[in-house]
Amino acid sequence: MNLKETLNATGETLIKTGSPDAKLEAEVLIRHVLGIDRATFFRDLEEPVTDSDRQHLDDLVVRRLRREPLNYITGFREFYGLSFEVSDSVLIPRQETELLVETVISLARSRPKHEIKICDVGTGSGAIAISLAVNLPFAEITAIDISQSALDIADANRRTHGVYNRVALRRGNLLEPVDFKPEIIVSNPPYIPMGDLSLLQPEIQYEPRVALDGGTDGLELIRGLLSQSLDKVSSTGAILFEIDSSQVNSARILAREYFPNSHISVLDDLSGSSRAILIEEISQ
Ligand SMILES: C[S@@+](CC[C@H](N)C(=O)[O-])C[C@H]1O[C@@H](n2cnc3c(N)ncnc32)[C@H](O)[C@@H]1O
Repeated sequence: MNLKETLNATGETLIKTGSPDAKLEAEVLIRHVLGIDRATFFRDLEEPVTDSDRQHLDDLVVRRLRREPLNYITGFREFYGLSFEVSDSVLIPRQETELLVETVISLARSRPKHEIKICDVGTGSGAIAISLAVNLPFAEITAIDISQSALDIADANRRTHGVYNRVALRRGNLLEPVDFKPEIIVSNPPYIPMGDLSLLQPEIQYEPRVALDGGTDGLELIRGLLSQSLDKVSSTGAILFEIDSSQVNSARILAREYFPNSHISVLDDLSGSSRAILIEEISQ
């Protein structure tokens, strides 16, 4: 079989996963096996595929048919224009989370001084912290996670992206490892209600439970974060955290309970869903 025939056959097989992007997934898996970029792939469509590459591809297709996420199979995920190493120790960074990065970048750039201390709580692969460090050359980021295996992946990613010196990694519960007052606290915490976890699609079942489980109402970690932020965030600071759109009212009420005098806004993602809560003007 040549590359084109392999692409078509693999795409047909992957339709069984229910993925609407079966053909694109086939292309990604084939390029991963061959170690080639898109341009080379489309240039070489008539080239034959060796038996050993075909065997390797078949093994990966079997994993995908078991509904293992594509990014765990390839070991990488694009986020905010950067490539991040991922494994089943970390949540696969989602496109909607880029809203947090964009918002922090614009908050940081609107401040009079360039030097800024930012905490990313629940850093996982380090996607948020490292994207911020790459785009904000004067920022110092502290990235916290309760999971050591997640921090190991974040460590690899901060080295790959050359921000090892500006992204400090700390292990612990929420803001507990932080002994200074950051100007910005950003977090994509686990926020899925515990009872909903088993109902999620098979791919999500591969992701670490500690990255998803937000307790009985999904807001337990957010409650903890807000409570700890009270005496941790700088008086001129801001707190930004991701939510599911179904939580917008309860999350806004929670933010108001902890920060009654602050300015609280709801931010929408690109699909128009409420995706984050921003708390500003902490001290009034
Ligand atoms: C939804 S994932 C977000 C990962 C990454 N920030 C992203 O957006 O792709 C939540 C992360 O919070 C971490 N986490 C869960 N409970 C925590 C806690 N009590 N303190 C610190 N981190 C926690 C998990 O290990 C996981 O990496």
